[in-house]
Amino acid sequence: MTISIEELAKFCKRRGFVYPSGEIYGSLAGFWDFGHLGTELKNNIKSQWWRFHVQNREDIVGIDGSIITNPKVWEASGHISNFVEFAVLNKKTKEKMKMDAHEVKKIADNKDFEVLGEFNPMFATQVGPIKSDSTIAFLRPETAQLIFTNFKLVQENARLKLPFGIAQIGKAFRNEISPREFIFRNREFEQMEIEYFTAPRQSCPYLDEIKGIKLFLITEKEKKGKLMEVYKAHKKGIIKNPWHAYFLALELSWFLSLGANPEKFRARQHSSDERSHYSSDTWDLEYNFPMGWRELQGFADRSDYDLKQHALFSKKSMEIQDEKHGKVLPHVICEPSLGVERTFLVFLLDAYEDDKKRGNIILHLDPKLAPFKAAIFPLLSKGKQLETAHEIYRELLEEFPVAFDKSGSIGRRYARNDEIGTPYCITIDDQTLKDKTVTLRDRETTKQIRVPHKELLNTLRNLINDKTTFSNFGENL
Ligand code: GAP
Repeated sequence: MTISIEELAKFCKRRGFVYPSGEIYGSLAGFWDFGHLGTELKNNIKSQWWRFHVQNREDIVGIDGSIITNPKVWEASGHISNFVEFAVLNKKTKEKMKMDAHEVKKIADNKDFEVLGEFNPMFATQVGPIKSDSTIAFLRPETAQLIFTNFKLVQENARLKLPFGIAQIGKAFRNEISPREFIFRNREFEQMEIEYFTAPRQSCPYLDEIKGIKLFLITEKEKKGKLMEVYKAHKKGIIKNPWHAYFLALELSWFLSLGANPEKFRARQHSSDERSHYSSDTWDLEYNFPMGWRELQGFADRSDYDLKQHALFSKKSMEIQDEKHGKVLPHVICEPSLGVERTFLVFLLDAYEDDKKRGNIILHLDPKLAPFKAAIFPLLSKGKQLETAHEIYRELLEEFPVAFDKSGSIGRRYARNDEIGTPYCITIDDQTLKDKTVTLRDRETTKQIRVPHKELLNTLRNLINDKTTFSNFGENL
């Protein structure tokens, strides 16, 4: 049974993952605060993403741009003139919703809807003390533009050769008409984006890496969709752009490597009237959230739109001198753009289980994502056991976040840690004092083994980094 989004929100508040922002004053729609466990989980998601997409690759580097920048950036990008949304009222349900131009076209003859007006979802603010039109600036609605404006410097500084990518993780802001569905649609959120630059029509040298990866594909023409090998879908012309095929498969494989459920993912091609103002072809990676299939990550082909626009508005050339392609204005052939909060929901939803047999909730989070990697329990909360437990706690803390719990029965302490996704629990008992071993318990199987104190850190390190599994150890205690 899957949990509803409302139940998940309650669970997140109860366990310290996410709170409505400023709740003691009645909160503010579309804004959320992350609690002590939510902050760890969110940071782990971002660092795993950064490791996989930036640090582990030769062709992608990362930047960290500012949230407020010169407003000309948004003139050039088209966000001031084209980033327009419509407020629409459903007269029957009295619900206000946001629609884009193509959705408004679809409901034009439907008497149940009324278009209330059009507006730009960028948040405006004031830079400096004197109010005037020339001091208005905007909170960025996407992280992408700072990659384009810094593009030439980064390419030169990092000596990048085509094809290459520039990645960024950071806050974005949109004054959404109807923020809803917990942290799915917020007014303040974070994005993890890559702008991937190629020479025009440059082929993708990495396609062999995605062989065997399957994804349910819905195309503009084939709305029913079909489970297909992404590599073959490209070879058959179903996914025309090789870089779309590559990144769709790569992103799915990143989610699966951290324990997401493959059956809840599909890819859908945008219809021509649905695409953003800058895009010539767009795919979405969608996830089956409790409220239905929704966009998780966008993959737009932005071609040379942004670099051309910035060259035009700044009157500075955006062309680069590439070893192989000479003087060239690169194309962003694919822009994988992922929301941190939606990713947070995916990992929580796929991890959550209300285990009736065990009698408690279990978060089956991958150890790399889990807020605490282990929890330490002294069987007795006093004397030598407590002292040894503290000693082990301090040793492990040098390497990763660890919880310390000395209250309640051991069963209760296991349950508390299952519920927040702690993968391993360590109990210090009478035997520890005699033979310097501890019990190590696995969240997934509840199997327990005895490990010498001096091997504990290394055993945990290997378990967390997938270098060993619990099934490699001996008998259950
Ligand atoms: N640079 C391209 C871009 O921003 P987008 O489809 O508007 O494209 C990319 O946004 C991703 O950012 C989405 O797939 C989603 O994961 C996330 N996102 C967008 N708006 C959001 C919002 N209001 N709340 C939470 N996440 C959002």
